[in-house]
Amino acid sequence: MKTKMLVDCDPGHDDAVALLFAAHHFDLIGVTTVHGNASLENTTRNALSVMALANIDAPLAAGRGEPLVAKAHEATEIHGKTGLDGATLPAPTRKPIAQHAVDFIIEMAYQHRGELVIALVGPETNLAAAIKREPRLASWLREITIMGGSTTTGNITPAAEFNVYCDPEAAAIVFECGAPIRMMGYNVTRETGFTHADIERLKQSGKQVAGTIANLMAFYLDRQERIYGLTVAPMHDVCALIPYVVPELITDINTSVRVELAGTHTRGMTVCDLRGVRPGSTQKITAATRVNARVALSAQSRALIDLVIDTLLAYP
Ligand code: RIB
Ligand code: CA
Repeated sequence: MKTKMLVDCDPGHDDAVALLFAAHHFDLIGVTTVHGNASLENTTRNALSVMALANIDAPLAAGRGEPLVAKAHEATEIHGKTGLDGATLPAPTRKPIAQHAVDFIIEMAYQHRGELVIALVGPETNLAAAIKREPRLASWLREITIMGGSTTTGNITPAAEFNVYCDPEAAAIVFECGAPIRMMGYNVTRETGFTHADIERLKQSGKQVAGTIANLMAFYLDRQERIYGLTVAPMHDVCALIPYVVPELITDINTSVRVELAGTHTRGMTVCDLRGVRPGSTQKITAATRVNARVALSAQSRALIDLVIDTLLAYP
């Protein structure tokens, strides 16, 4: 039976690929949108446009437009002024459901209790607000998979990854909620992405979805090359979904993750306890401190991206 998944996202170029991947591989129970790469209005419209492009009919609920405490931070330098620049996308064919994302998450977690995986691929504001509203929520979830944080360098600051940095208070609530958590950090996702050849392969397919994604990725790769000096268009978000399809592509450890809230230079940093990890070791090493997450250390990036490309090519 397919994994039941709810994707909370801020499309965003890599979010768009994650949505297509989720709809193909999982029982996509719902999609919720949040501030982040762009305004909530833009991330919501972008999600609905991507879903229209691929004929994905899962319910979509719009969520929070502002972080719990911090002031909103957008990434238009990477994703463009719409949050998803680079291609002509179909206008949304649907509106969000009337229910707010926070209430929708609570309802879906209860309705599918014990079975639902929530994928957080934007700032964690919606799920944090849901946990505050319904303290039993964490016990209803099968797992939370997070694209966020890093065991090494940040991107938006030297110490912090964007999703956690946008709402560190929310990230702290989620990491401390007690549900099983997988963390897929920037340490892995920064080097897991589409090359120019991958983008050309999508373009040459002659398929509408793949061709549109190719145009989006060409824009995104150009920005990533110019701003971060990356040589691939990092597929941050879809990496968080891979463990539910091909878990052997990810090497991870069970350890503790704490979110820094007060550091002058480190606010939004995920402090991962790697003291028990011997360089090059692949054993599942338990860290010395309280374990609250399964943290990715590395991925077989080429095989992972090949799976993502094949998935995109499966669309018309
Ligand atoms: O740091 C990478 C994350 O920030 C990804 O989720 C990307 O979409 C942006 O939201
Ligand atoms: Ca995202």
